[in-house]
Amino acid sequence: MTGSIRETAPAKINLALHVTGRRADGYHLLDSLVTFATDGDGLHLSPASEDSFRVTGRFGALLGEAQDNLVIRARDLLRTVVRSTGHATPPVAITLDKALPIASGIGGGSADAAATLRGLCRLWNIRLPDDAMKALALSLGADVPMCLASRPALARGIGEELTPVPALPSLALVLVNPLVSVSTPEIFRRLEWRDNDPMPPLPVDRQADWTAFLASQRNDLEPPARALVDEIVTVSGALAASGASLVRMSGSGATCFGLYAAPAEAERAARRLTEQHPLWYVQPTSTVCGE
Ligand code: C5P
Repeated sequence: MTGSIRETAPAKINLALHVTGRRADGYHLLDSLVTFATDGDGLHLSPASEDSFRVTGRFGALLGEAQDNLVIRARDLLRTVVRSTGHATPPVAITLDKALPIASGIGGGSADAAATLRGLCRLWNIRLPDDAMKALALSLGADVPMCLASRPALARGIGEELTPVPALPSLALVLVNPLVSVSTPEIFRRLEWRDNDPMPPLPVDRQADWTAFLASQRNDLEPPARALVDEIVTVSGALAASGASLVRMSGSGATCFGLYAAPAEAERAARRLTEQHPLWYVQPTSTVCGE
């Protein structure tokens, strides 16, 4: 077994999210352009005499019971699958540095689960076939497969049918969350989805006007989330006033992002937003490029 391993669990950002239908089991069909921040949670895994799990970081104290954490569920599920192949899965000490707000629409829990799968495969020195890994990820949550790769993608199905988007450039953003947790099932329950259009064809190169394209798209979960959580309206207004060229909610909220022309502008806006709203989560970040 290898020594200690670090993985990052980058924040997922739904640049646009169209809900196009509903499956018989109640899950919704999506057409979503997703990308990933260069910031996120941190995961540290090391060989140990027995399994353990510790949470640190700004939002660590807000997490519930350890056994409900997706990190633990990912560890246990991967161990069951790997053991059935006869490969050893020795005990592991896991520390999660919870830097992303909880239940906030930027996929923190899903990113943590995906980082656990990646990290344990490295630590245990195993490689599962891509399909098996993806199925395992999907059984942990609809957003976990996209977090495995953490690269820009067009996500269809319930979020698990992924097409890479190499033409998406790095974007300068500020993520803002008013520290109000939002229940994803609750937002989907309140959604009126029937007439929603799918996503039109995406721009084909990095030089295209992606801001204009994104401005013509939407997040269909934003209206029900705004109706439920007043603070989302306040956050969007503050981001718009900070000079963002586009403001939108990610996932089922409450995190919203503002898009800026350059990282220095995003950092300036983030400083001002933090001064005005010291209790909010305000994170300037860049997103990864498509490849
Ligand atoms: O898969 P995950 O556990 O992350 O989903 C949480 C809840 O969000 C689901 O139980 C479902 O109510 C809702 N959901 C949905 N359609 C999706 C993804 C999630 O209705 N594509």
